[in-house]
Amino acid sequence: MRDLSGKTAFVTGGNRGIGRGVAEALAAAGMRVSITGRDEEALAATLAALDGKAPRRDGDSGPVGLGAVADVRQPASLQEAVDATMARFGSIDVVVANAGVGAFGSVIDLDPEAWHAVIDTNLTGVFNTVKATVEPLMASSGLLVTIGSLAGANFFAGGSAYNASKFGLLGFTQAVMLDLRDRGVRVSTIMPGSVATHFSGRDPTPEEAWKLHPDDIAETVLYLARLDARALPSRIEIRPSRPARR
Ligand SMILES: NC(=O)c1ccc[n+]([C@@H]2O[C@H](COP(=O)([O-])OP(=O)(O)OC[C@H]3O[C@@H](n4cnc5c(N)ncnc54)[C@H](OP(=O)(O)O)[C@@H]3O)[C@@H](O)[C@H]2O)c1
Repeated sequence: MRDLSGKTAFVTGGNRGIGRGVAEALAAAGMRVSITGRDEEALAATLAALDGKAPRRDGDSGPVGLGAVADVRQPASLQEAVDATMARFGSIDVVVANAGVGAFGSVIDLDPEAWHAVIDTNLTGVFNTVKATVEPLMASSGLLVTIGSLAGANFFAGGSAYNASKFGLLGFTQAVMLDLRDRGVRVSTIMPGSVATHFSGRDPTPEEAWKLHPDDIAETVLYLARLDARALPSRIEIRPSRPARR
């Protein structure tokens, strides 16, 4: 098992939900963690939590986290966040391309704005993240993880935009895996089923206890990061073991 302490992670959408769970778990494993998102207040709250999670060792100084307001649809703002991370921590060893949004409903009612928000964030946003981090990742022989979805392999009514973004992301990630493995970068995609987060636009309720928890996805990222570099689980599906009966 690889020791992650002192290494650096870059997590998009790290200020809430799955991304926050991943950021906290990586900080608890001793990593420095750079998180991005658009909501500055949520970034600040998560940064405070990261410091509380980090194991303290003699000689440690400064916060373990760095927060950057960055929209994954804007390559320049992502590049700024990457530059700030390199300036502060000196390397990027793990990238988690997690930021994502949903828009659900029949294509009859789906307006072009909602389509573009989903495709530009979930698919082009990951492309932008890869472009901004690929040099540091090649320099560190690092790990890139994209957060896909079971909706990237199973279509459903009302899912035209979301399905298209996540099917596209699965193909994109696997092609990138083949592009980068000879350059020493391991690329994996995690495809969760339902996770209890604010993805639906509201707080998870007690009735949703059957869903996965962000910690479950965080554990999966940790497993990938700690695995010996010779091994590459390139696609991981993870689902609630006892889904609610419909
Ligand atoms: N929850 C589920 O059931 C589920 C299942 C499978 C896959 N997923 C995937 O998991 C990922 C995280 O979702 P979640 O469940 O944790 O949802 P969430 O709680 O709504 O978090 C979404 C995160 O993405 C960020 N984000 C959204 N648009 C962004 C943009 N344009 N630029 C930068 N950051 C942006 C948000 O931060 P700001 O709003 O501050 O920008 C937030 O941190 C998504 O890719 C989602 O598709 C979720």
